[in-house]
Amino acid sequence: MTNDNCTGALMSELRYEKLADDVAGMIAGGVLRAGERLPSVRKLAEERRVSISTAVQAFRQIEERGLVEARPQSGFFVRARPQPLLAPATQAAPETPVLVDLNQRLVGVLEANQQPGIVPLGAALPAPGLLPIAALHRRYASVARRFPNLLGGASHTDVNDPQLVRQLVRRSLSWGGPLDGEEIVVTNSCTEAMHLCLRAVTQPGDTVAVESPAYYVMLQLLESLGLKALEIPTEPETGISIPALDLATRDGKVAAVLLVPNASNPLGSVMPDASKKKLAQLMAARKVPVIEDDIYGDLCYAAQRPWPIKAFDRTGNVMLCASFSKCLSPALRCGFVAAGRYRAAVALQKMLVSGGTNPITQRVLAEALESGAYERHVRKLRRQFQNQVELMIAAVTRYFPAGTRIARPQGGFVLWVELPEKIDTAKLWKRAIAAGIAFVPGDLFSPSRLYRNCLRLNCGNPWSETIEAAVRRLGELAAG
Ligand SMILES: Cc1ncc(COP(=O)(O)O)c(C=O)c1O
Repeated sequence: MTNDNCTGALMSELRYEKLADDVAGMIAGGVLRAGERLPSVRKLAEERRVSISTAVQAFRQIEERGLVEARPQSGFFVRARPQPLLAPATQAAPETPVLVDLNQRLVGVLEANQQPGIVPLGAALPAPGLLPIAALHRRYASVARRFPNLLGGASHTDVNDPQLVRQLVRRSLSWGGPLDGEEIVVTNSCTEAMHLCLRAVTQPGDTVAVESPAYYVMLQLLESLGLKALEIPTEPETGISIPALDLATRDGKVAAVLLVPNASNPLGSVMPDASKKKLAQLMAARKVPVIEDDIYGDLCYAAQRPWPIKAFDRTGNVMLCASFSKCLSPALRCGFVAAGRYRAAVALQKMLVSGGTNPITQRVLAEALESGAYERHVRKLRRQFQNQVELMIAAVTRYFPAGTRIARPQGGFVLWVELPEKIDTAKLWKRAIAAGIAFVPGDLFSPSRLYRNCLRLNCGNPWSETIEAAVRRLGELAAG
């Protein structure tokens, strides 16, 4: 190498290091915040008058320092400061099943989330502005115009729209399907799907194994059906404990397993494929039906959409439930269950419970899926939610008391937070509501009232000064 070449190489090295240091300085100083996107390589190169390759090298260096992360097709994003992001300790779940008694308190907590002016960090709802509501209106109008006979159909005898079923089967190819169209029952929501499955395979007084912590509506369903819940320890990263489930189902006293394997609510865990396969095999061998809720499957952050347990089901023992509430609109009230060998029993329950599902909505969904609009929308939405979760993590990290721990979700838009042990989040909730801020206290995720020092935050809303101020206030209330 000549001296000139040497000097040139050195200069370029200095340039990209300087650029990397400047960006790192902005992150350290809070100018660039966790979850924010860095300017594009091209823009930064132009603004700093350096070559594209210098800017690329600078970005690589900042990435190596762990300050930013590259997201496919989206660019570089500032990572949250990692310090308190330890997995919360799983609290020892009780070994005996209990009757659930949460409904009354839950109704109050969920109602509070809807109060006018409240900062809605409670119920897991996406902000309406992120949903394709105008496009759905157009599709409703168009479907109603083109198919005037849809409302004239006999819904009790023909529950499913064949076009929607075909789309559901087609989509299942992307996660280890195909589903069998014959096993599908279209429902009014994922909640209805789970309700029908429970009614199909359990009797009052039976025991159902659930995750701990568990999605509270699942617990409400058990309560309303007179079923007992058996809490199975669940890890923030890898989901339900297979060894614990193995133990719990040995004596034939568990009538069903009800769980959220992909981006569980509230932990955000995703079960590894090996665990899903093991669970499917184990429960098939023991003849314990599995009811899985895959509502967040399309909202997982990994490049590859995770497979549901259903993909590993060889005997028709798994009932896969999902809906469009999180991605398109909770108001659609349309979901489905692929019920495997329980199809007939589930279809009978569907007839008894609600008879049918709005045929116009079904056709609207079928067309949204067929056109590719759903896929394009969901691709953007999952990045948006990931970003919002990152910003929430950063704010909790900044404002909550020392000793706070956070489960890092792998999908969806809720965040599970563990506060220092002395803090009772049911009491904190009352003070927060008085201050105009909603969240869900941790003990509502456990029929035996574990997680009294935990809470769940909804990250379904775009970041704003109001949310930032609410998280700061929550942190102050928790500390005080
Ligand atoms: C895990 C999970 N399942 C189901 C639902 C509700 O779905 P749907 O509106 O389709 O009943 C929610 C909503 O919070 C959820 O978090």
